[in-house]
Amino acid sequence: MTEKKVEKNEKVSEKPFKTAISQHVDETSYIRGYDLNDLIGKVTFTEQIFLLLKGELPTEPQRKVLDAMLVACAEHRINVPSIVSARYAYSAGNTFNSAMAAGILSIGDYHGGAIDNAAKMFLDNIDKNAEQLAIELKSSKKRAPGYGHKVYTTDPRTTKLFQIAKENKLYGKYCEFAESFEKALEKTNSKKLCLNVDGAVAALLCELGIDYKFGKGFFALARSAGIASHVLEEALTAQPFRTLDEKDVEYIGTAKRILRK
Ligand SMILES: CC(C)(COP(=O)(O)OP(=O)(O)OC[C@H]1O[C@@H](n2cnc3c(N)ncnc32)[C@H](O)[C@@H]1OP(=O)(O)O)[C@@H](O)C(=O)NCCC(=O)NCCS
Repeated sequence: MTEKKVEKNEKVSEKPFKTAISQHVDETSYIRGYDLNDLIGKVTFTEQIFLLLKGELPTEPQRKVLDAMLVACAEHRINVPSIVSARYAYSAGNTFNSAMAAGILSIGDYHGGAIDNAAKMFLDNIDKNAEQLAIELKSSKKRAPGYGHKVYTTDPRTTKLFQIAKENKLYGKYCEFAESFEKALEKTNSKKLCLNVDGAVAALLCELGIDYKFGKGFFALARSAGIASHVLEEALTAQPFRTLDEKDVEYIGTAKRILRK
C-alpha cells in the first residue's frame, strides 16, 4: 500500500461535524488514512467494513470470523418480515432502494435485531453467574435477547459460527458466557431457547471489540444483500400489487350496520 501520509489537523476543531473515518484531500479520498485507490482491489469488502468500524484493518482470524458472520446473516428464507415487506414495497411501485429501506425498517427486536440487546446483556453480565441471570430475567418476565427461534431448537448457524471462531482463536469469554446462558435458560424455561444467530453474532461482536450499539446495523448491513436479491427477483419475476390472500384474513370487527346520519 502507498505510504501517502495525510496531515492530521492538530488544532481543536470548532466545526460541528468531526470525523475520523474519511477525508477528501486534493481529489483523493482517504479512508482511515488509506488512499481509497490503494484499498480498491487489495482489500475485501469484509476488511473494508472492519476498517471503517474499527479504524484498522483486521487480522486474518478477525477477517475470517467477521466474513462468516456476514455470510450467516445475509439470507435465511423468504417468509421473514424484512424480506416480505421489501417485496411488498417494490410490488406497490416504489423504487428499488425504497423497497430495500422498507425491508431494513422491518428489522426489529424480534427479527434480526436482537444483536445489540444481546451484546449489551453479555457485556453487562459477563462476571455474573449465568443461572442467576436466567432466574432474574424470568422473574422480570423479560425475553432473553438472542435466544429462541421460530424454527430451530439448535440454530445451526450458531454452531458453525462458533466452530469458525474456535478455529480462529476468537472464541472467548463472551461466546462461553452465551453458551452457558443457553444452558441456564433450559433450566428456567419450559421451552428450549437456543442461542440463535443474533445471539451468536452478539457474542462475536463483543469478541471483536465492536460496540454493541452497532448490533441492528450489523444485521441491516448483512441482510441488505438478501433483501436486494429478493427485490431484484420481485422486479424480474412478479406482477405488481401483491395482496394478502382472502383465505388468510378473518374479519373480527363489528357486523354490517346501517349508518343513520
Ligand atoms: C425469536 C422468537 C420471536 C421466536 O418465538 P417463538 O418460538 O415463536 O415463541 P413465542 O413468541 O410463541 O413464545 C413462546 C413462549 O416462549 C417464551 N420465549 C420465547 N422466546 C423467549 C426468550 N428469548 N426468552 C424468554 N422467553 C422466551 C415466550 O415468552 C412464550 O412464553 P409463554 O408461553 O409463557 O407466554 C422469540 O424466541 C424471541 O422473542 N426471542 C428473543 C428475540 C430474538 O432473539 N430475536 C432474534 C431471532 S433470530
